[in-house]
Amino acid sequence: MKRDFLIHSAALLVLLCVSCATLEAQKFERLALTPPMGWNSWNKFGCNVDERLIRETADAMVSHGMLKAGYRYVVIDDCWQGERDSLGWIHPNPQRFPSGMKALADYVHGKGLKFGIYSCAGDQTCGGHPGSRGHEYQDALSYAQWGVDYLKYDWCNTTGLNAAGAYTTMRDALHAAGRPVVFSVCEWGDNQPWLWGKDVGHLWRTTGDITPCFDCEVNHGSWSSWGIMKVVEMRKSIRQYAGPDHWNDPDMLEVGNGMSVNEDRAHFSLWCMMAAPLIAGNDIRTINASTAEILANPEVIAIDQDSLGVQGFRFTTTPDGIEVWAKPLVRGDWALCLLNRSERTRTVEINWREYALNDDISKQGLDPGTFSYAIRDLWKQQMMGTTRETLRAAIPSRDVAMLRLTKQH
Ligand code: GLA
Repeated sequence: MKRDFLIHSAALLVLLCVSCATLEAQKFERLALTPPMGWNSWNKFGCNVDERLIRETADAMVSHGMLKAGYRYVVIDDCWQGERDSLGWIHPNPQRFPSGMKALADYVHGKGLKFGIYSCAGDQTCGGHPGSRGHEYQDALSYAQWGVDYLKYDWCNTTGLNAAGAYTTMRDALHAAGRPVVFSVCEWGDNQPWLWGKDVGHLWRTTGDITPCFDCEVNHGSWSSWGIMKVVEMRKSIRQYAGPDHWNDPDMLEVGNGMSVNEDRAHFSLWCMMAAPLIAGNDIRTINASTAEILANPEVIAIDQDSLGVQGFRFTTTPDGIEVWAKPLVRGDWALCLLNRSERTRTVEINWREYALNDDISKQGLDPGTFSYAIRDLWKQQMMGTTRETLRAAIPSRDVAMLRLTKQH
């Protein structure tokens, strides 16, 4: 009898421990059922961040229609940090953030936005500020106290660390702190995060840093940053790893940071076709009309945010630089993006019978040989006939036509 009791108690204890462990060892679920949308300071401002910039950006996100278009997270990237105190707690740089992070988060929340911050798995961030290594649980507590909703977690100065392990530690620390946080894994694709990231974060960077040029590489000595098409080319066969709550992240947007309007439109369209997180990286306070029209086009954003959550793919390429990208959408719709990579305007002719395709991942088909689809031009926001007629479109250099096809009954 006593033996039975002991066995039962031991079994109960084991069960309790196992369920405690599984309760703790998880990410916050369902925070990113569609790719996260927001703004981040890095691409435009680098280390030049302070509380005034963040407040003014939050104001501008509302007044320029970005929040209404779906951009919710305002994320401070590197260089907000000051020092750790004698007990190890991290404090913001007192000159740049004199009111403290809690007050800033409250301000951002007061605008109906969410608040994000940056740290690094290493001893130091990429900008040389204190990283979270050895302080993960303590930092996660600070973030929860401040009201942080989004953490971008970088990978500089991580010698000797295992990537999946280090990111899992921070995931568990965030979970233990108890405040739901979108966890953005930023290790540049070096350790194939698409293979282990699904249970760890909500998005993971797939490449090194983006830079605002269409197809260049900028060499910084020990590392390079990459233009739009370089980023697109770098990881070709990882779309099967993306889906609701776990996205491939080809880095933040460079729309409005110096490329031509055509290039910006092509960049944004491709990010939407790839179901990429849409994190604006320009100065929202001084955004001009053409940049706002790109970033806030509801019909193009709807392709990115489509609830089927399937990353699109390149379907055809031609020797003269025309590519056709395809993305299956809810209710059997398809998005098609006709990209002109060449230096000249090209007239594209599409005989729809040649566009029968079957996607292995979504199991969705496009069959204009059998059915008729209505075609909508998403940038012009107008209907343009059906797939019964051949489509002809002049596409300027480094620009796109973006179409939504809906089956007609
Ligand atoms: C790395 C990241 C960038 C940015 C900087 C900050 O390079 O990839 O996105 O966060 O660090 O130092």
